[in-house]
Amino acid sequence: MAKLFGYIFLLMILVLLYPSSSSAMTTYNVLRFGAKGNGVTDSTRAFISAWAAACASTGPTRIYVPKGRYLLGSLAFKGDCKSSDITLRIDGTLIAPAEYGVLGQVKNWLSFDRVNGVSIIGGALDAKGSSLWACKAAGTNCPDGATTLRITNSTNIKINRLLSLNSQLYHIVIDGCQNVYVDGVKAIAADQSPNTDGIHIEESTNVTIVNSTMKTGDDCISIGPGTTNLWIERVTCGPGHGISIGSLGQEIEEDGVQNVTVKNTTFIGTQNGLRIKSWARTSRGFVQGVKFIGALMYYVQTPIVIDQNYCPHNLNCPSQASGVQISDVIFQDIRGTSTSPIAIKFDCSTKFPCKGIKLQNVNLKYLKREAQSLCTNVIGVALGLVKPIIVCN
Ligand SMILES: *[C@@H]1O[C@H](CO)[C@@H](O)[C@H](O)[C@H]1NC(C)=O
Ligand SMILES: *[C@@H]1O[C@H](CO)[C@@H](O)[C@H](O)[C@H]1NC(C)=O
Ligand SMILES: *[C@@H]1O[C@H](CO)[C@@H](O)[C@H](O)[C@H]1NC(C)=O
Ligand SMILES: *[C@@H]1O[C@H](CO)[C@@H](O)[C@H](O)[C@H]1NC(C)=O
Ligand SMILES: *[C@@H]1O[C@H](CO)[C@@H](O)[C@H](O)[C@H]1NC(C)=O
Repeated sequence: MAKLFGYIFLLMILVLLYPSSSSAMTTYNVLRFGAKGNGVTDSTRAFISAWAAACASTGPTRIYVPKGRYLLGSLAFKGDCKSSDITLRIDGTLIAPAEYGVLGQVKNWLSFDRVNGVSIIGGALDAKGSSLWACKAAGTNCPDGATTLRITNSTNIKINRLLSLNSQLYHIVIDGCQNVYVDGVKAIAADQSPNTDGIHIEESTNVTIVNSTMKTGDDCISIGPGTTNLWIERVTCGPGHGISIGSLGQEIEEDGVQNVTVKNTTFIGTQNGLRIKSWARTSRGFVQGVKFIGALMYYVQTPIVIDQNYCPHNLNCPSQASGVQISDVIFQDIRGTSTSPIAIKFDCSTKFPCKGIKLQNVNLKYLKREAQSLCTNVIGVALGLVKPIIVCN
């Protein structure tokens, strides 16, 4: 008995001497820096001070945003930080000024640049974009607006259970990053709200997006030049324009897009489903190694698209043969309905025909009727059931 108590005593001493790793973490509550979750007090400075403290810390650090509504102007969270383990834990809602003019010409509302090991967990970001959308709809002289959350030149980033509402421009941009994990994100903006892409990725490697939902006015996920090793799984899109690689070929010389997997996706009432697009310009670039596997299309205008004559509104397009080479693209296990007669559209470059295009088990109907396809400049195969039938010229 005495021996047992001796062990327990020893154990207690050990517990007291060695704090658990969670209690070793430094927490900076934004309230301590003067933030007010009352929806009216500008808390920008408090958030920046909390970031400065976290960034200068060594070891695991947490910035905590309790419940409440925090009015915030443009927030630039800059590296390089001493800590490579910073968690921004949000239980509240961050709100942008209701008048888009207040953010003025800034390009981003929240931005992270040159950080390593940052996790953004929970919370809602309400960018109050509707007045800017209205301005743009009226066609008057409006600013572009700010991206809600932009992460640049950073590594080892996690974004978890974040709700992004009413972005002025893109909801989330990942640019020049490595190892980014996005899980359980929701992006919501009005149908037709201009350029409110859910997530835009470019010049980034090892980006994963899972369990996420995008209901926006533009692309669900857009994939720009220099994206490699991208994994997308269990994502639901709509309304909006669907998942798109491109537009590519905007610059004369561009980095390619390589090794993209898009699995188990659902599209509801989107303009496109799975799309690759490049401008009709001679600019060089490439798309290589894309797998679109497992997709359900509910009333999607055009579920499957490769468009190398991309020219929105038919404005300022030189109508040249695209210089972007598209190769090794698989469309597999895709079914559902289109709302236009053409359910599959392949319009590839006359100079660089698409090659290694494979369709397998694709079954698309035009409402309750047979759908049709269009196909030019494609070298590829169809395996298993593929409907509509594809005849290329
Ligand atoms: C990220 O790095 C690139 C290349 O060094 C640089 O051109 C760009 O300005 C950086 N982005 C930001 C937001 O600083
Ligand atoms: C995402 O899905 C995976 C697999 O179903 C699951 O293990 C994970 O917990 C999910 N994440 C969230 C945030 O729901
Ligand atoms: C991307 O992930 C792979 C496999 O996990 C890893 O080997 C590679 O180093 C990563 N690339 C970068 C740039 O971090
Ligand atoms: C392709 O990307 C995935 C992650 O999306 C990675 O696991 C895999 O190793 C990559 N393949 C190659 C050949 O780089
Ligand atoms: C997605 O995965 C789930 C579970 O594995 C499956 O039941 C569902 O049919 C899949 N959906 C699509 C569109 O592939």
